[in-house]
Amino acid sequence: MKNKTIIVSNRLPLNVSVEQGDVKVFPSVGGLATGMKSIHQNSESLWIGWAGVASDEIDEITAEKIKKLSIKEKCVPVPLTHQELEEYYFGFSNRVLWPLFHYFMEYADYDETHWEAYKKVNEKFAEIILENLNEGDKIWVHDYQLLLLPQMIKDKRPDISVGFFQHIPFPSYEIFRTVPWREEILKGMLGADLLGFHTYDYERHFISSVSRILRYETNINSIHVGSRTVKVDSFPMSIDYEKFHNAAIEHQLKNEKTSLQIRIDQYKELVPDSKLILSIDRLDYTKGIAQRLKALEYFLDKYPQFTEKVRLIMLAVPSREEVPQYQHLKKEIDELVGRINGKFSTPTWTPVWYFYRSLPFEELIELYTSSDVAFLTPIRDGMNLVAKEYIASRTDQTGVLILSEMAGVAHEMNDALLINPNDDKQMSEALKQALEMPLEEQISRNKIIQKRIKRYNVDKWAEDFMEALDAASQLKEENLTR
Ligand code: ADP
Ligand code: G6P
Repeated sequence: MKNKTIIVSNRLPLNVSVEQGDVKVFPSVGGLATGMKSIHQNSESLWIGWAGVASDEIDEITAEKIKKLSIKEKCVPVPLTHQELEEYYFGFSNRVLWPLFHYFMEYADYDETHWEAYKKVNEKFAEIILENLNEGDKIWVHDYQLLLLPQMIKDKRPDISVGFFQHIPFPSYEIFRTVPWREEILKGMLGADLLGFHTYDYERHFISSVSRILRYETNINSIHVGSRTVKVDSFPMSIDYEKFHNAAIEHQLKNEKTSLQIRIDQYKELVPDSKLILSIDRLDYTKGIAQRLKALEYFLDKYPQFTEKVRLIMLAVPSREEVPQYQHLKKEIDELVGRINGKFSTPTWTPVWYFYRSLPFEELIELYTSSDVAFLTPIRDGMNLVAKEYIASRTDQTGVLILSEMAGVAHEMNDALLINPNDDKQMSEALKQALEMPLEEQISRNKIIQKRIKRYNVDKWAEDFMEALDAASQLKEENLTR
């Protein structure tokens, strides 16, 4: 049997919904799932994670159907009960770690029972991994929902290579030190042979927390944990460039149009020099959606000459709807969209087209290829793959990317219009600059970014991580035999 990589994440790339016994499968949304999916499809791998439904809310026949559907996709579903999801996923993962790691300290809600559930669910993942593990396999754990898992695996199987990649920021020591269970979390992560982050800053913050909280000896790229050396490095995640680029080319050659494309074309024909601004995210308070809308309002007030000439297509996919902050945000966004449309609309024009749902890949491509500007304004974002997807889809290299400095991806995109998402005026000026930017300038900016994403695509990212994991594991073996 060939050696495989076991990919482990809270969520599988397939998201199941059950309606009256009928099992429907949708692709999972979010950078982790969309990015890792293409790696998984093209490699010898098995993906272990949650399929999107509570295990105690379905019957055995449905569970069996889900298992079969998962096996087809080389996936193993981890059954999580309603209570486990409440406490481990909505609770500790998304009401402590997510807000804190994105610097929303005031949203962190510490609850001992959620922490206990987090530990138990990490153990459950460890058991399922061990059941599926063969000699020579490697394990690649992903993201903040599973921070304790690396050490849990190491305790049972010190011989196995374990890599860990964090898809969200790692906050500064001053933030991280506020977590009541900070030592256990760091020790859990340090069970990995290699820890990867999107940027050097996140890596540095992690090493500084280890050195100051655990007092372990650290170097630029490594940490001494007893007799083990744990490697730490940055690997900025990328996208399947060819998939987006080729889909954009195909889309432009296609004759049939979707109703969305027809409406976009009608708008452009009706107002010949009109421009479309696009934003795509999960509805999350880290994404700066409210700030973006307020900046648009400021812009339309300040520059009335753009009335009827610009439209924001804002796509927000529902996310973590059981967490109160997401519910409040949804309300705030509904109100802001209503206010802006109410204030500026004319009989033939509304400034904001708001879609609160997930769109199929083809329609995402339509939006990427039809939009003159991408307006991405996160308050804090581990990476932001949408920025890369937009640039990859611009086959003629036109289009302007307005991008928050607070996104990990900004480190790789000096040629975008970088903004501070808390500065309305700066964002409004960036909108004006983007809408008036000559085509030659757009092309010269995007050329550089596109070249980089094409060369450093998601395959190269995974290859680099795996090579570094092999090197770290080699070091481990040398230490063991010494
Ligand atoms: P995050 O991982 O925080 O959600 P990213 O920007 O890194 O942020 O990744 C988001 C991913 O989800 C992208 O691949 C994007 O194409 C996809 N996505 C976001 N919103 C939608 C939507 N409404 N419909 C379909 N896909 C979406
Ligand atoms: C981000 C996180 C992922 C998560 C995704 C979607 O990308 O880094 O771990 O899967 O958001 O969020 P959800 O809670 O729906 O899985």
